[in-house]
Amino acid sequence: MTNSNKPNLRSPRSPRSGRPVHIVGTGSYLPDRILTNADLEKMVDTTDEWITSRSGIKERRIAPDWMCTSDMGTEAARRAMEQAGVREDEIDLIICATITPDMPLPNTACLIQHKLGAKRAAAFDIEAACSGFLYGMEIGQQFITSGTYNTVLVIGAEKLSTIVDWQDRGTCVLFGDGAGAVVLRSRGPERGILTTCMGADGSKGDILFMPAGGAKFPASKESVSARMHVIKMEGKEVFKSAVIAMQTAAEEALKKCNLTINDIKCIIPHQANLRIIDAIAARLGAPKEKVYINLHRYGNVSAASVAIALDEAAREGRFQRGDLILLVVFGSGLTWASCVIRW
Ligand code: ACO
Repeated sequence: MTNSNKPNLRSPRSPRSGRPVHIVGTGSYLPDRILTNADLEKMVDTTDEWITSRSGIKERRIAPDWMCTSDMGTEAARRAMEQAGVREDEIDLIICATITPDMPLPNTACLIQHKLGAKRAAAFDIEAACSGFLYGMEIGQQFITSGTYNTVLVIGAEKLSTIVDWQDRGTCVLFGDGAGAVVLRSRGPERGILTTCMGADGSKGDILFMPAGGAKFPASKESVSARMHVIKMEGKEVFKSAVIAMQTAAEEALKKCNLTINDIKCIIPHQANLRIIDAIAARLGAPKEKVYINLHRYGNVSAASVAIALDEAAREGRFQRGDLILLVVFGSGLTWASCVIRW
């Protein structure tokens, strides 16, 4: 028996006090339209070989013009609620993590609240880029742990195709559209989410950013013609920071729970780049079979990535009730987060 197959004989420790919080339903939504690497070869100076070897991505989903982030978020939420057996009038709070809200105001969570008919729910967005979904889960968990709310819907939803620079081959090949969601509840004494670790480094905000559209550079003819409303990225710097931050965050979460990587059944990392994921798995000493990957089909969907991957991994039976799973993410900010769950 290899180390990685050894059963977990120790009891994981949860550093949390208060009510335990569980993921009682997951859901995701991907638009139908597939944009392949071959399609991108016709749009910019690139090749399937370059994109595949540098990122692992083969295709991504692109939402139609009429479909907004809130539409995808609503559908993912409906699927999570259906699986959880939760009605819209039972939801106390909706948190939507996104960097592509339908509009600056009202927030996307309010638009989703209306589309779901979840009239009792408070609703707000958070922006922590690709880390937003785990940041949102931690916020939702705190409300349940404290006893303030019973049922929280956390959504990661993105229409990144609207902020990608379709003339920049260095970034446009990496991103896609979609949404994922979870329903959080306290389901009994047995622990669900054991711990979440979050971090940020604002000094590196300029390696992955979108300069205009906020208070610093409001939309103007000049900002549009200077192409300031699209993602700008220093890929190599982001790559290096992502590997270090995700490794550190994963190790911190395991340590807090008195676990080793051998105790983890499935690792679900942010789906940005296969080489980043492989580097993290190697540094953590995790065999590749433990790592869930779907970026070849969807590319990087920012805040939605780990939510979609969690839903797909759960529905594919990659882990069973009682198994330990590790989520770890990284994004613009810079931000990062990790989370250990007893499923
Ligand atoms: N097709 C062909 N050639 C390309 C392409 C392309 N699509 N893009 C760039 N190139 C060229 C470059 O121009 C460069 O050419 P040169 O050597 O003649 O100058 C060459 O390929 C190498 O470019 P690099 O940028 O050095 O390539 P690298 O190996 O670093 O890979 C990549 C680039 C894939 C972007 C990688 O750096 C990466 O994945 N970084 C992390 C990105 C990431 O994770 N971002 C999301 C973070 S999450 C969030 O918050 C949204």
